[in-house]
Amino acid sequence: MGADRAGPTEGTLAVEPVKVALLGCGVVGTEVARLLTTQSGELASRVGAPLELVGIAVRRLGRDRDLPVDPSLFTTDAEELVTRADVVVEVIGGIEPARSLVLRAFAHGASVVTANKALLAADGPTLYEAAAENGVDLYYEASVAGAIPLLRPLKESLAGDRVTRVLGIVNGTTNYVLDQMDTTGMGFAEAVEQAQALGYAEADPTADVEGFDAAAKAAILASLAFHTRVSLDDVHREGITEVSAADVRAAQLQGCVVKLLAICERGVDAAGDETVSVRVHPAMLPRAHQLAGVRGAFNAVYVEAESAGQLMFYGPGAGGQPTASAVMGDVVAVARHKVVGGRGPGESAYAQLAVQPMAETVTRYHVRLDVADKPGVLAQVAGVFAQHGVSIEAVQQRQVTTGDGAGRAVLVVVTHSATDAALAATVEELEDLEIVDSVAGVLRVEGGDA
Ligand code: HSE
Repeated sequence: MGADRAGPTEGTLAVEPVKVALLGCGVVGTEVARLLTTQSGELASRVGAPLELVGIAVRRLGRDRDLPVDPSLFTTDAEELVTRADVVVEVIGGIEPARSLVLRAFAHGASVVTANKALLAADGPTLYEAAAENGVDLYYEASVAGAIPLLRPLKESLAGDRVTRVLGIVNGTTNYVLDQMDTTGMGFAEAVEQAQALGYAEADPTADVEGFDAAAKAAILASLAFHTRVSLDDVHREGITEVSAADVRAAQLQGCVVKLLAICERGVDAAGDETVSVRVHPAMLPRAHQLAGVRGAFNAVYVEAESAGQLMFYGPGAGGQPTASAVMGDVVAVARHKVVGGRGPGESAYAQLAVQPMAETVTRYHVRLDVADKPGVLAQVAGVFAQHGVSIEAVQQRQVTTGDGAGRAVLVVVTHSATDAALAATVEELEDLEIVDSVAGVLRVEGGDA
């Protein structure tokens, strides 16, 4: 980190400092404290007032923290600290005590910057309302996709447009795991172990691999994109634990890659009313799709809007420094509001679109079947798709050599769009067919135009 850089107007700032309190001093908090301290001159020039770090709330005092700050700033009394700040930076994570501290900060007139996706996805509306009631800001750019400027573009830059779809890779851990499976052929368990060894995955990787982290981010993205309250409970969630090396290989044979996608898109219900579909699940993407080339632990979000067309946001989605960059952008924004008065635009939920049940959501499936290779098998399989009103886009058959001389084949069926309920019912019936040995794999397909 560079030395303190004096901004061009430092020394001419004749205003009171904006008092900043930091809640949490983990990987992100440490970087935020470092930037507040080492970049104080430039930050003051950008804000129009100095940013004064008035305290850092930690769980335990006395830890050796490699930070250029006055040790007396550390405190275990977060409740007291938030009462003497203009801006509270919450990087503790989790629901409590973060939620209570944020509400307490608002009640004392402080704006809040948070990276806490779990809290926002669980109880965002309560917090948005409390911020509005107290005339303060709640900014949370760092809660989704780390350093990537995404939430403010959705909320502000695209405020004059109509967003139709947000499709994103918003979890770096799962992207790393799937990328390893794709490039090396290794299985899920081995790829997770490697991700853990390299520090990409937690010792308990559940939140990432089961899709909880991505689902919280999808709820935040959908709320902003569609001016509708979407909570974690509204998000259909499937993780990547069931994705096998064979699935990844099957995707490769189709010219596709498997990605864990957060998908938020407008839909229409049976009555013709507009809805939103919000879901997280693994899906096959054509390798030519912009998101297919997102490698390793990077994040990328693809946004479609009626006037803007297709937009792509790409960058590091996690890590202390990248996340601190997003936090600091918010700190500067809300501190500027403190200096000039007023607050930034709040969340709008005027559209109040209904969240579409997954069963009614229109998707495409790639189904891999182990079947007997004899007359009538293809017709029987096709018949099941037809009974459920599912149109087949493509079928491929590959012979399989078995030791017993019995004819066996692998059938791959790719469908056109149909409701998820119809596709799921089709797969269920296929499983019961005598000529089907097993349904070896089912993956949704995204990014095509069928
Ligand atoms: N665990 C997340 C990821 C980063 O792997 O992308 C924090 O949201």
